[in-house]
Amino acid sequence: MGILLGKTALITGGSRGLGRAIALKLAGEGAEILLHYNQNRAAAEAVAREIAGPCRLLQADIRSPQEIEAMIASLHGAPLDILVNNAGIWGQTPLGSAALDYVESMLDANVKGLFWTTQVALPLLREGATIINMSSTAARVGIAAGRSLYPATKAAVDSLTKSWALELAPRKIRVNAVAPGYVETDMTAAYLAKPDVIRGILERSPFGRLGNAEEVADLVLFLCSPASQWITGQSINISGGFVV
Ligand SMILES: NC(=O)c1ccc[n+]([C@@H]2O[C@H](COP(=O)([O-])OP(=O)(O)OC[C@H]3O[C@@H](n4cnc5c(N)ncnc54)[C@H](OP(=O)(O)O)[C@@H]3O)[C@@H](O)[C@H]2O)c1
Repeated sequence: MGILLGKTALITGGSRGLGRAIALKLAGEGAEILLHYNQNRAAAEAVAREIAGPCRLLQADIRSPQEIEAMIASLHGAPLDILVNNAGIWGQTPLGSAALDYVESMLDANVKGLFWTTQVALPLLREGATIINMSSTAARVGIAAGRSLYPATKAAVDSLTKSWALELAPRKIRVNAVAPGYVETDMTAAYLAKPDVIRGILERSPFGRLGNAEEVADLVLFLCSPASQWITGQSINISGGFVV
């Protein structure tokens, strides 16, 4: 294989969950990995050990523009072929009792951080590079149970994806988003462990199961590959029919 040999990929939130699976997938195709993490250095180091090829760790809290700028500055202008804006947070923001700190934190991580990472990394992106933003099927439906802000942040990600696809087309940079349904990761583990929750989700799932991180990574690989060269500005639903 090795369809990404000679390519360099920066993956945010690569220490765990979907980012980890994406890093392993792209590395398996020969990409050099720049693996970003925030708090879990040990987990990031474990991913780096699993990657047979070159992998460099980068730390930043993406809620901090200064930390993003320092992270990108540490690359000293080395070119990038792939940027996967994956890092994000999920949680409750019930109208009436949402804490302002948490509202700001979610907007900062899921929207401002993604925007700033892309803006600061842009000079390093080669002509013909690809950007993949992590969205969610939650952006496409109404969400009950006090979680309205998270889907709104992912709707913003979808909107940025469309506009950036047009804005960056003159540099032959493609921009797409990946929108998974529920996947069991650290983010969702406690929620999915509730018997009534998992029963309801599986009843709504035509294939009767959750997706997994490997499947999401396969879609990211496709969007990085020449096989998707005529696809840009799309947010691709990967939920096994959970949201159609
Ligand atoms: N799991 C799902 O069902 C699902 C479905 C749809 C979309 N998504 C989206 O997929 C992405 C990854 O989700 P996941 O399930 O893999 O989550 P996860 O297991 O909680 O992992 C989150 C990753 O993001 C990083 N991160 C979190 N906050 C950060 C911050 N402030 N600054 C920098 N990095 C930060 C974490 O880094 P450290 O651990 O090093 O701190 C970690 O690597 C998110 O954007 C999420 O919204 C997930």
